[in-house]
Amino acid sequence: MVSLKCRSLMPVAGAEAQLAVAGLAAVLLAFLLVRQLVKQRRPPGFPPGPSPIPVIGNIFSLATEPHVFLKKQSEVHGRIFSLDLGGIMTVVLNGYDCVKECLYHQSDKFADRPSLPLFKKMTKMGGLLNCKYGKGWFEQRKLACNSFRYYGSSQKLFEKRITEECMFFVDAIDKHKGKAFNPKHLVTNAVSNITNLVIFGHRFAYDDCNFQHMIELFSENVELAVSGWALLYNAFPWIEYLPFGKHQKLFRNAAEVYDFLWKVINTYSQDRVPRVPRHYVDAYLDELEQNRGNPNSSFSFENLIYSVGELIIAGTETTTNTLRWAVLYMAMYPNIQERVHKEIDSVLSNGRPPSMEDKHRMPYVEAVLHEILRFCNIVPLGIFRATSQDATVSGYTIPKGTMVITNLYSVHFDEKYWTDPGVFSPERFLDSSGNFVRREAFLPFSLGKRHCVGEQLARMEMFLFFTTLMQRFHLHFPSGTVPTVTPKLGMTLQPKPYSICAVRRQ
Ligand code: HEM
Repeated sequence: MVSLKCRSLMPVAGAEAQLAVAGLAAVLLAFLLVRQLVKQRRPPGFPPGPSPIPVIGNIFSLATEPHVFLKKQSEVHGRIFSLDLGGIMTVVLNGYDCVKECLYHQSDKFADRPSLPLFKKMTKMGGLLNCKYGKGWFEQRKLACNSFRYYGSSQKLFEKRITEECMFFVDAIDKHKGKAFNPKHLVTNAVSNITNLVIFGHRFAYDDCNFQHMIELFSENVELAVSGWALLYNAFPWIEYLPFGKHQKLFRNAAEVYDFLWKVINTYSQDRVPRVPRHYVDAYLDELEQNRGNPNSSFSFENLIYSVGELIIAGTETTTNTLRWAVLYMAMYPNIQERVHKEIDSVLSNGRPPSMEDKHRMPYVEAVLHEILRFCNIVPLGIFRATSQDATVSGYTIPKGTMVITNLYSVHFDEKYWTDPGVFSPERFLDSSGNFVRREAFLPFSLGKRHCVGEQLARMEMFLFFTTLMQRFHLHFPSGTVPTVTPKLGMTLQPKPYSICAVRRQ
């Protein structure tokens, strides 16, 4: 009797429990949906923008060539418009006037970084590049600026060390004896060594597998950081618990890189003498010691690892891509290459290596490098910013904490400032007498409080590497091949892999 009763009651109790769980799940889902739809409402006075899809908003419109898509949208919605990235309300700035109005005239208000789940997970909003705008950022940036000036661009000795690296670089190219090779590996190693000299006081050999591996992981993360999965993770951070997705690779790569950096930092700070810094890491450790016990200090071992990682990747990926585009365009336009050769030969008599003093006597080389930076748009959407206070732009209200995308591509292709922006023409940086002229709407390093910290160093590297390379070699593609100029997308735009023949000039 008893057992009979139990048998008939059990399924009923199980079914009730299942129903209760399903009901709870439905309520939770409805709550999440309503919360998401509320997040997706444009705040009052916010700029207009393309219609979003419920829940995911405009995320998928950014899948292919987002900079081009956003510029086209600005022709419909205006220079300043809004996007909904899955509930993350975002403002997009287009064209030189609009970018200048916000980043320069309202510099303070547009100096923050967005508190995105991805940044929180990767650097806890610390370090330098992803750091929130405030005292912590100021401390980290000041130390980096001083170090880059002191151990880098302002020293004659440092210029000598770049020249030495240029020699390692061209000698390594020479080993290919004019045969086809992909220059990516060599350019990356040579460029990152300049940042390494400032940070660790040390260069890594081109065949150092560990360092090579770290740079590859970093580089992969620069691509993954703007992939659909990363955007989804920012909108729906709970996908962290999914066992699949590219965001998981991003986290694994970051963990491996931080582990490697920890070891390298320890190695190159071993013989440190306090208050006699030899490089950035020593200077950082001095600050850390001097601020020990100060709860308001941003100097910590964790932040040191984040800052070192950001400086290496920000310095390597950008300058490397610029030089890789420069090599590609020189082979693409033999007439431009010939003019570069002529100018270099006329200034560097007897084949002596170039120095920074030669720069003002090489206006054409300068014009070519500027046109590469304009035309190739190395960081097409800058680095995501956020408003640190409420701001008003063109009559629109942008609340504090709004994510801001600066479409630097739209500045470099702004028809108001550039004639035929889609044509590659170094001459646009020359006056009628052949002198180099600066152009206002040229912002590859961005503008305002968060503008690139490594601009001076990057300019020095680009000039010395490019001139040394072109002085020694004639560049052409292997016969019968013409590589595509369609870029590989990521936070930076880089050329797709291509082969080049570097033939020694007499
Ligand atoms: C051609 C080379 C380079 C280009 C085109 C470039 C471009 C940029 C851009 C567009 C930004 C974003 C600024 C913003 O938020 O609006 C930036 C920031 C930054 N760059 Fe560069 N960069 C280059 C080289 C370097 C080098 C060599 C370093 C250091 C070794 C570096 C370190 C940084 C850092 C740390 C930031 C973040 C600054 C902050 O948040 O305060 N960059 N860069």
